[in-house]
Formats: sequence, C-alpha cells, structure tokens
Amino acid sequence: MTSPILVTGGTGTLGRIVVPLLRDAGRDVRVLSRRAHEPGDGIEYVAGDLLKGEGIELAVSGAETVLHLAGGAKGDDVATGNLVRAASRAGVRHLVYISVIGADRVPLGYFRSKLGAEQAVTGSGLPWTTLRAAQFHDLVLNVLRTMAKLPVVPIPGGLRFQPVDARDVAERLVELTLGRPAGLVSDLAGPQVYGLGDLVRGYLRAQGRRRLLLPVRMPGKPGRAYRNGDNLSLRADVGKRTWEEFLAENLR
Ligand SMILES: NC(=O)c1ccc[n+]([C@@H]2O[C@H](COP(=O)([O-])OP(=O)(O)OC[C@H]3O[C@@H](n4cnc5c(N)ncnc54)[C@H](OP(=O)(O)O)[C@@H]3O)[C@@H](O)[C@H]2O)c1
Repeated sequence: MTSPILVTGGTGTLGRIVVPLLRDAGRDVRVLSRRAHEPGDGIEYVAGDLLKGEGIELAVSGAETVLHLAGGAKGDDVATGNLVRAASRAGVRHLVYISVIGADRVPLGYFRSKLGAEQAVTGSGLPWTTLRAAQFHDLVLNVLRTMAKLPVVPIPGGLRFQPVDARDVAERLVELTLGRPAGLVSDLAGPQVYGLGDLVRGYLRAQGRRRLLLPVRMPGKPGRAYRNGDNLSLRADVGKRTWEEFLAENLR
C-alpha cells in the first residue's frame, strides 16, 4: 500500500478539482477539513484546524507528500507554520504549496500572509515545491457578481488581472505533487491580462445588464503596486482555459 497524499484544503474550490485528479493517478488521498466527512472512494478525512493547531499530527502521520491548499483571507502564515512543524516531525518527504503571484510585492495583508506562508515552507527544512498562481476565474466571477449589485460600480484605475482557470492550476499542482521537490517553480497565470473595467463591462454585457461605471483612484501603496502591475506575472506559464470560456460555462 502506498502512503496517502495529504491534501489540506481538499474541500475548497481548488481542492475539489485536485483530489479526483490524484485519485485518477492512482493515489490514495487524505483530506484535512475543519468539518467531519464520510470517507469513500480512496479518500479519507481527518478533522482539524490549521489555525487552531488541531488534528494536524494525525493528518500528517504516514503521509510522505503533503499538498497544502488550505487558506483563507487571513492567517495563512500562522496556519502554514503549524502545518510545517507537524510535517517536519512526521518526516514528510515533499511539501507542495500554492501561493499567489505578487506575494512578494503587493503590500496588502493577504499577500503578506501568503509570503509568510511561503517563508514557513522554505524554512521548514523539508523538501518543497511552491507554485504562485494568479486569481482564479471563480474568484473573479464572485467579485464581479458582488460589484454588479451596486447601482454605481467604482473602477480603480490601472487595476488589472490575469485570471487563471482553477482546473489548469489543479492539473499543474498534481504534476508537481507527483514529481520531485522543485523549489519555487514558474508562476501560472491565465492567457490574457484584463483591466477591471473590461472584466466588469464584459460581465454586464453577458448578463444583459447596465450599470454606471465610476473611475476612482486606489490610494496608497497598494494602489501604486496595482498600477505598477505588481500582481501580474508577464513571463508566467499560461493556463489553456480562457476567461471567456469560463464565463460562458458559468452564466445562466
Ligand atoms: N482563489 C484564488 O484566486 C487564489 C489565487 C492564488 C492562490 N490561491 C490559494 O489557493 C488556495 C486554495 O484556494 P481556494 O480558492 O480553493 O480556497 P477556498 O475555496 O476558499 O477553500 C479554502 C479551503 O481551505 C480550508 N481551510 C480554511 N481554513 C482552514 C483551517 N483553519 N484549517 C484547515 N483547513 C482550512 C477549507 O476547508 P474546510 O472548510 O473544509 O475546513 C477549504 O478547503 C488558498 O491557499 C489560496 O490562498 C487562491
């Protein structure tokens, strides 16, 4: 029997795509989740919380490879620190981490905590692989849905995105997880860069809706970083699925 691959965040947007791909590759999978789940089809679940430091020892026990996808708006640095300490004690042989493009450049809390998490991985003493990805199509669609509810939609000037399909990120992560530790690999972004205004206009058009768009200026260091394109990676590897295809699939 081969050792299971521990997938943290295996219940999330990305994890729900990754887990069946690992199963298709013939690997047993263990998922760490804050909630209890019934096991089935080669997938076992361990209940635990990376932020609270609960259930992690059991989750890592006997897993030679850990694919760490769990994350939230805050605290990924702390959660990852808790995971890597347990993984080191358990003798994990490969730790794979998903970070975000701009983790080292965008001065906002989420990006800083992703950088802290990357540093926890690098400093763990474990063999590691980290992939920085752009914003997923799913996230961009959620943002656009929320923005389109406003009667007047503010559009910060110079804000651009390079959205990538979570299925492309999942496929790359599975390849990395089944491969040898590779350190910081090439970024993965979507095939095209879009201004936020273009994304909003395209979404409204596809929905047959109209809204007034109001150009605004994002203040401070985050504004400068976004206008400078610090959240973009123009030399990244590029996913094959486009934003337009995703939008067509997901709009009723
Ligand atoms: N979304 C994007 O655009 C994007 C872009 C680049 C990188 N990323 C990174 O990709 C990863 C996955 O993103 P996603 O969009 O799939 O996230 P998601 O849909 O929000 O799912 C979050 C996952 O993390 C788990 N989780 C959250 N807090 C936890 C905790 N304290 N302990 C244990 N598990 C916890 C959740 O599991 P339970 O609810 O089952 O406990 C869930 O499976 C994250 O690290 C994110 O930072 C995302």
